[in-house]
Amino acid sequence: MIEGPIGIFDSGVGGLGILSEVRALLPESDLVYVADQAYSPYGERGLTMVRERAFAISEYLIGAGVTTIVVACNSASAAALHELRDRFPSVSFVGMEPAVKPAVGATQRGTIGVLATEATFQGELFSSVVDRHARGVSVVARACPGLAAAIEDGDNVDDLVRRFTADVVGRGADTIVLGCTHYSFVADQIQAAAGDDVSVIDPAPAVALQVARVRSDHGGTGSGATRYLTTGDPDRFASQIERLTGLARSTAAIEIEG
Ligand code: DGL
Repeated sequence: MIEGPIGIFDSGVGGLGILSEVRALLPESDLVYVADQAYSPYGERGLTMVRERAFAISEYLIGAGVTTIVVACNSASAAALHELRDRFPSVSFVGMEPAVKPAVGATQRGTIGVLATEATFQGELFSSVVDRHARGVSVVARACPGLAAAIEDGDNVDDLVRRFTADVVGRGADTIVLGCTHYSFVADQIQAAAGDDVSVIDPAPAVALQVARVRSDHGGTGSGATRYLTTGDPDRFASQIERLTGLARSTAAIEIEG
């Protein structure tokens, strides 16, 4: 099979962390990133709407020729990953699920914390991951309303990080899973708030490895180009990319009807 570009989408900037891991691993692949900023934050919108957005964006990306789609968003994966695979069988999907399994392997005290959005905890994916991997371990599931939006805007992040982290550490967690891709950008703050005896697990590198595994070309075709698209304001998106990654990138606006 001839591989097309890799599509990567999120409600906003969260998937950029996944994008940079994929880029590091697959330097020649062409990447198309969609930030669905007209509809962010997903985590506070309810699963039905998030599922519709995931369908619409996947259709758009497939129309643009991609053959792999990375659902670089835990909320969208929780809402739609199974249905996406059924609906679009011609492309391979890589999704996010909270990294409960490695956290269960790492915990010393038998309690792990998961920081994620409300939507992620509502989906069946989370309870199935806990059922499969967390036997005998306590799981403190902490929704973090407002944190993804604060990371988008670069405002008020520290207060929220301290509050949510203190809550899971106070309830005994010695291992914290970042269950929302936005939170990779505040992993250092979460670590600082949690203290040195707590491990913080970011699944982004493992997800990039999975992307490399599903590509039949092993990432070997393409020109190494990346397109940055948003359903929101492209100037705002460009400045967010620069603030979060240090890279000046050109961006473009797209419309994707639900
Ligand atoms: N980055 C997303 C996630 O992994 C969504 C955050 C949001 O839009 O609420 O869940």
